[in-house]
Amino acid sequence: MPHTTRLLFFAGSAREGSLNKRLARLAHDVAEANGIAATLADLGDYPMPIYDGDLEEREGQPDNAKKLKSLMSVHDGIFIACPEYNASITPLLKNTLDWVGRVKDQGEAPLAVYKTRVFALGSASPGAIGGLRGLIAVRQTLELGLGALVLPDQIAVPRATEAFDDDGHLKDKMLMEILKTVVQKLARAAHVMRGEEGA
Ligand SMILES: Cc1cc2nc3c(=O)[nH]c(=O)nc-3n(C[C@H](O)[C@H](O)[C@H](O)COP(=O)(O)O)c2cc1C
Repeated sequence: MPHTTRLLFFAGSAREGSLNKRLARLAHDVAEANGIAATLADLGDYPMPIYDGDLEEREGQPDNAKKLKSLMSVHDGIFIACPEYNASITPLLKNTLDWVGRVKDQGEAPLAVYKTRVFALGSASPGAIGGLRGLIAVRQTLELGLGALVLPDQIAVPRATEAFDDDGHLKDKMLMEILKTVVQKLARAAHVMRGEEGA
């Protein structure tokens, strides 16, 4: 039976009213509307302590890092919407990516969960450039640190407190088109990568 390409969506913020959660949810809905199998996750459901090597030596990796890694493993492409904190990645997302990178199942190459799937990025901010600078740090962590393939296409939503309508869509039609393109390219790249893996 042919494998269905599956995409996972989450935000680098656990805040209830998070603008980036809204963006992740919208990207997820765009995927589903295009017939792509999609899952929406919330990092608030995967709390982890701040990474500490002594803690890891004593207790191993947190169960939530293992659970999140398992969830990532059953998806071929991952979209992350990350807020910009002081022109960089949020501590929540960095800590989560760090811990997940420490989980290694038996016989698995280091960082396999990052190296065998494709990522796409988005950001939303009340500011004028939409959190774009933070994505440089997210990209650096994923590409240079964790060996992931990250699509060059990305979306940054400026003035995000006013950017969404009541249905959760982006009011700006051009931004909506950019989001659709990012999601479709992610699905295509995930499909190709999956095929190459099986080859
Ligand atoms: C510690 C901190 C640093 C921030 N730095 C930036 C920043 O550099 N650029 C920016 O556009 N917004 C910055 N913000 C504002 C966030 O973009 C805003 O709080 C946003 O709503 C957070 O994302 P969320 O709504 O998904 O939680 C910062 C917020 C915090 C708490």
